[in-house]
Amino acid sequence: MPVGRFVTFEGIEGCGKSTQLALLGDHLRARGVRVVATREPGGTPLGERLRDIILDPSADPAPVAELLMVQAARAQHVQRVIIPEVDDGAWVLSDRFSDSSLAYQGVARGLGIAMVTTLNAIACGSVSPDRTLVLDLPVEIGLARARARATQTAQNRRFEDERLAFHRAVAEAFRALAAREAGRVRLIDATGEPAEVHARVLDALEDLLP
Ligand code: TYD
Repeated sequence: MPVGRFVTFEGIEGCGKSTQLALLGDHLRARGVRVVATREPGGTPLGERLRDIILDPSADPAPVAELLMVQAARAQHVQRVIIPEVDDGAWVLSDRFSDSSLAYQGVARGLGIAMVTTLNAIACGSVSPDRTLVLDLPVEIGLARARARATQTAQNRRFEDERLAFHRAVAEAFRALAAREAGRVRLIDATGEPAEVHARVLDALEDLLP
């Protein structure tokens, strides 16, 4: 039976996570690996319903309420998708996971790392990513890309409309995390063409790839 893996992609809005996740999925499938591509908030029917609420501009959740909703979605994702699929030998690739809660709710919303770490532990249990890829690029570039996309789809305005300082805090939080947990978390230069960034992603997974 193949070894299952759990890999997460993190970064600010517009950093190219979804593109890189898709490219990695293609690379793995071409090598015969079963891939489960998923996302947070979301990844299960319950989680997707919570996602709709979390991203709804009219919901206006208090920061703690926002944190508890992303954690409820995460608990369902961990129990119903991540654990069974990894146990079954798949590579589970998640667009965002627990580190987003540290960066967005813990740092940018100011709830503090301690509270978020406690709730991450409750939602994740013993599950931790085998590797986390933080796609790093200047905040202005990421936001310009995300806003160009958001005017097309009108999605996720609640986070994209936050001030520049909010997104800078998120980016700094991800960089600090990569420095603190250098084994699991790898900071990847996300500037340049998707193919160049993809090559950096493969480098950062070299010891895990089949
Ligand atoms: P995502 O769909 O990845 O948005 P984008 O493609 O713009 O990066 O994520 C939706 C939003 O949810 C994103 O703005 C960050 C936020 N989020 C949190 O605040 N905390 C969390 O724990 C997670 C998973 C996401």
